[in-house]
Amino acid sequence: MRKPRRLSPDELAPWAVELPGARRDPTPRPPPPQGEGEEAPSRRPLSSSPPFLGEGPGEGSAAPEPIAWSVLFGNPNPVEVEVGMGKGLFLLTEALARPGVNFFGIEVVRKYQLYAATRLAIRKLPNAKTACADAGRVFRELIAPGSVSAVHVLFPDPWWKKRHKKRRVFTPAFAADAARALAAGGKLHVASDVAEYFGVMTGILRAMPAFREVSAETTAGPVEEAGFRTNFERKARLAGTPVGRAVYERTAEPVTVAPDPADGEVRADVKN
Ligand SMILES: C[S@@+](CC[C@H](N)C(=O)[O-])C[C@H]1O[C@@H](n2cnc3c(N)ncnc32)[C@H](O)[C@@H]1O
Repeated sequence: MRKPRRLSPDELAPWAVELPGARRDPTPRPPPPQGEGEEAPSRRPLSSSPPFLGEGPGEGSAAPEPIAWSVLFGNPNPVEVEVGMGKGLFLLTEALARPGVNFFGIEVVRKYQLYAATRLAIRKLPNAKTACADAGRVFRELIAPGSVSAVHVLFPDPWWKKRHKKRRVFTPAFAADAARALAAGGKLHVASDVAEYFGVMTGILRAMPAFREVSAETTAGPVEEAGFRTNFERKARLAGTPVGRAVYERTAEPVTVAPDPADGEVRADVKN
């Protein structure tokens, strides 16, 4: 893959938005491998004080306002959020293919966020932006209920070791937050090449009345036949690993938190 050319912070700013409360680099651990020999674009600080949000959390300040999508994008178009977009292939291709939809990618590793933002900035795409943050926090604190039309969680890190599984981004609580974020009829797309994690995600979603399964399939076709939409999907297909994909539609039912497959605990949720 070609390296995107380096852009200045000012050039990148419209595609690399700063969210309140986000640490400069919130990565607590080394990033997972994403490819060899690719250099990240500029890591210098970007502009702050975004006009699309209220005050950030801090001493004496109120909790942050949710993101005002129409202010952020400058139009009232539907918004789709991608969780953990890595280098941003999906975000880029979807934004190019569907100019009437706004795309917002959340990535916890700064260098991948900047890589993806650079790809969008080079093409000056008006309908895609990125943020460096923990997606769980963004959904909990910064996305207004019913304000997005789709959420994509594509090939989330599996965290293989048992003691690390709590680091997974897709949990019953996250699924509930995604359900709150979605407008009625909105879609949640999940995919993984890790059969166990795919089973966990679909198991959580099938246990939630707030979602209706639209499709769920596992395909093992080679990359030439099955195609790919993300870097990790490409790697999986080239390796011959089966890929699970599922789509869920937000129903009008209240949001509940599914039992956690990790501990079997059942929790009731009072928020909707
Ligand atoms: C396995 S990679 C997949 C990247 C991309 N979706 C793809 O399919 O090529 C998972 C990505 O999710 C990011 N990630 C992990 N935890 C996250 C979190 N809590 N919030 C946002 N991004 C996260 C990782 O840094 C990584 O870039």
